[in-house]
Amino acid sequence: MKDFNSYFESIPELETERLRLTAFTREDMDAYFDILRDPKVQKYLGGGVPVFDKEPHISNWLRNVNDRLLKRKIVFTWCIRDKESNRVVGRIDLGGFVKKTAADISYHLSSDFWGREIATEAVERVTRFGLDELGLVRIQGLVRIENQASIRVLEKNGYLREGLLHHYPFGREFHDVVMLAIVRCIPV
Ligand SMILES: CC(C)(COP(=O)(O)OP(=O)(O)OC[C@H]1O[C@@H](n2cnc3c(N)ncnc32)[C@H](O)[C@@H]1OP(=O)(O)O)[C@@H](O)C(=O)NCCC(=O)NCCS
Repeated sequence: MKDFNSYFESIPELETERLRLTAFTREDMDAYFDILRDPKVQKYLGGGVPVFDKEPHISNWLRNVNDRLLKRKIVFTWCIRDKESNRVVGRIDLGGFVKKTAADISYHLSSDFWGREIATEAVERVTRFGLDELGLVRIQGLVRIENQASIRVLEKNGYLREGLLHHYPFGREFHDVVMLAIVRCIPV
């Protein structure tokens, strides 16, 4: 296994059967903003991912996710692409690292691609990256209780419900959220 720190030089490219997970580029941004403008996508994000489709916000954001936040080992932000069409399908993040041991996962997809197990496939790959490559012990996801599709995505990947947090800070809002986590067994 490579050293944890060595993964933060550039966004690692990950692949699954149908998807390619890469760094966002300037060319991806219009398609990504179309995804973010969809109220169906925003519904359960707690206002935490606003549309920022003007300069200098776009350049700042790209510099943040591909350089500053990465170099400070805060978060990996991947663009999810459909391999066949090369279309931008959505975004997935793994970040909030605590002592190289725990992290948070989050994601959102274009509604054109919902219901095809794409989120499940992306979460599976990023979870494997986190546990097997970064060597994390715990990955957690916070999901609004109403967002049954997202709860299902995590459960299908082996995440277990740990509890319900009432009026919990979520994005820019407060909501009742379910904490789900996958914890790798540590041999005793
Ligand atoms: C949540 C989201 C990522 C799911 O993506 P997806 O690619 O459609 O998910 P998948 O197809 O991999 O799996 C969805 C599962 O939820 C189930 N599901 C969908 N809607 C559901 C609902 N209303 N109630 C219960 N289950 C539901 C599906 O049947 C499927 O489970 P199954 O395979 O056992 O049948 C997508 O809807 C999304 O981007 N939503 C907006 C942003 C968001 O909510 N992000 C998560 C924030 S925590």
